[in-house]
Amino acid sequence: MSTPETQTPEAADKAPAWAGAEPSNHADDPRAQAFAAEYPIRPLPATGTVDTTPIATTPAAVGELDVIWQAVVRETRSRGNDIHLPISLAFAERLCRAYPEADAQLVRVAILLHDTGWAHVDESRILSEGFTGDWRKAAIRFEHEAEGCNVARRVLPGLGYEAEFVERVCEIIDGHDTRHVAYSLEDALVRDADRLWRFDHAGIALASTWFGMTPDVYTHRLGVEIIPELITEAALAMGTADLERSRALLKTGVIR
Ligand SMILES: [Fe+2]
Ligand SMILES: [Fe+2]
Repeated sequence: MSTPETQTPEAADKAPAWAGAEPSNHADDPRAQAFAAEYPIRPLPATGTVDTTPIATTPAAVGELDVIWQAVVRETRSRGNDIHLPISLAFAERLCRAYPEADAQLVRVAILLHDTGWAHVDESRILSEGFTGDWRKAAIRFEHEAEGCNVARRVLPGLGYEAEFVERVCEIIDGHDTRHVAYSLEDALVRDADRLWRFDHAGIALASTWFGMTPDVYTHRLGVEIIPELITEAALAMGTADLERSRALLKTGVIR
């Protein structure tokens, strides 16, 4: 069966389904300005080891965050979170090795929890509003961010996390999809990890169906729309390597 007309890469370029990032949004926030002043070079150069091997070769660390996982099992059952969150955590830990100056614990906890809010919004609206049209501005997107902060504030204090740490986690979760600029290095690493999982073949298998795209169109979009959004040099190297591997694996040059 041939690819539907609306799904050809050419048609996709003419009518992007993913609203482009708008860097001017929140760009005048003092936190955004402070981060941009401290880290002016883009992509942000890595100071540690950059690993571009398949993410399955370096799963997230065993044990330490298990109590958080156990507290949010219910939340992982929404919108593919039980696939998205562990893979994104593995990418986040890898990014922390590339940027050892970052607060790795903050990055790890924030990425683990960032999408748990999907479990607390109207499920019927997730695909109808959250993945179509100008999805970055959909109300459901803001709702899942706010609900994710509620999950963090409910779960983390009882596990021994200080109030100040919890609020730093929430600052990252709040706006992770709807805000287009990073407020800190940790925020930037979470944002990149949240995008990197899409380039792995498991992410392509899952997320392409959410957007109603064939794998060839979806991977084309990753290359032209998501690769340019990556903030760090390490994420750019990882995403580019994964995209090349996934396209070869899924034969997107032929099955189109
Ligand atoms: Fe999200
Ligand atoms: Fe996410």
